[in-house]
Amino acid sequence: MKYLIETWGCQMNDHDSEKLAGLMEKEGFQAAEGVEDADVVLLNTCSIREKAVNKVYTELGRLREEKKRRPLLVGVTGCLAQQEKAGLFRRAPQIDFVLGTMALQQLPRLVEEARAGKARVMDTGDYPDNHLFPPETTLRHSTAKALVTIIEGCNHACTYCIVPTTRGVERHRPWKDVVAEVEDLVAMGFREVELLGQNVNSYLGGCTFAQLLDRVAEVEGLEWIRFTTSHPMNFTEELARTLATNSKVAPFLHLPVQSGSDAVLRRMRREYTVEQYLERLAYLGGARERIHLSTDFIVGFPGETEADFEDTLALLERVRYDQSFSFVYSPRPGTPALRLADDLPQAEKSRRLTRLQARQTELTLESNQRMVGRSLKARVESKGALDGGHWLARTGEWKNVHLAVPEGRRLPFGELVDIRVTGAGPHFLRGELA
Ligand code: 5AD
Ligand code: SF4
Repeated sequence: MKYLIETWGCQMNDHDSEKLAGLMEKEGFQAAEGVEDADVVLLNTCSIREKAVNKVYTELGRLREEKKRRPLLVGVTGCLAQQEKAGLFRRAPQIDFVLGTMALQQLPRLVEEARAGKARVMDTGDYPDNHLFPPETTLRHSTAKALVTIIEGCNHACTYCIVPTTRGVERHRPWKDVVAEVEDLVAMGFREVELLGQNVNSYLGGCTFAQLLDRVAEVEGLEWIRFTTSHPMNFTEELARTLATNSKVAPFLHLPVQSGSDAVLRRMRREYTVEQYLERLAYLGGARERIHLSTDFIVGFPGETEADFEDTLALLERVRYDQSFSFVYSPRPGTPALRLADDLPQAEKSRRLTRLQARQTELTLESNQRMVGRSLKARVESKGALDGGHWLARTGEWKNVHLAVPEGRRLPFGELVDIRVTGAGPHFLRGELA
């Protein structure tokens, strides 16, 4: 019997897929090459924006056709599953089972019941120990960086966001479990970990998040720690200090701001003003020069005026983010923002998005150009030369490097190499071995 897991969404979902794959293999299933040779297909879905949801329904349509030709079990998990629950069966009767985001360990039971012929099998319960998923069961993708859950859920209530619905309230993994898992990962050969949570900054699993970073950093053989994602209101001076001083914490901070207008931030219920956000950024002090900064923006939020949008552009200029991710606001079912009047034409929202992204592309290019000539370490992230003839590596600042490597020379996958940055484009650096 073979299984296939298709994944959309964030690193949290990527990591959940690694956990689910481990469960399937424990039950004796083998990984399929594609849909064609799979007996069970599990869609691990995202519902952060409507576009992500549409992709899932498109794939479900394809699977419905496949099911007409041969026996195949189709399961849906992830945020769309948690959000829609039994409603999914009505909309897509080709689904055999639905597994919620807080019930991962129930997968084997659901698959067994579906295989036994039971229809519409579902578990979207809130299991309090979901965040204690046994790490030895996780089947990791062969990447240079290992993902590690430290906190699940979110206690904020941003008015546009589906995540509090789909991932529940905060549950914190004990710090000793986190450190033990990282020790095992290093023993397996990983040199870099990314600590995951919807809001890692509010971590309280027996210590603060800054203390957790320091404790994880003590694991011998570990080279870099990354983390994602952070709510600005939980970004503390203590954390800024750790980020600035602990050399194992990669020099990169993703601090989503969403908007540069106080009026919009208030309607988003972000719990900060632009001024307060900037105060928190200032915690980094002189380290800001070295630490690369990234953010998320939502444009076209209900009631966003041209002046509000200009304020967002002004914030972009002021902070000069090294990179950012921006999206047009997408109304999500059951969220409070649905009650706000949203009369801005879609074309205007798209125009604002294009403007913001064009300016960010310039800023990112400038940020990349500032790195030209520098000697630094980068982790080898490809197992050979890519189509363009270069290898792929990644710096601590989370920059992609296209690395020129002499013909015939092989680089050790997942290891750090010394490089010199020789050129820059908007999406990557060029480099050579130092
Ligand atoms: N519409 C558009 N973007 C959204 N995000 C979250 N919810 C929505 C929504 N309803 C964006 C935010 C967040 C990122 C992960 O996705 O910018 O930081
Ligand atoms: Fe998508 Fe958010 Fe769920 Fe991640 S947590 S899969 S981004 S909806």
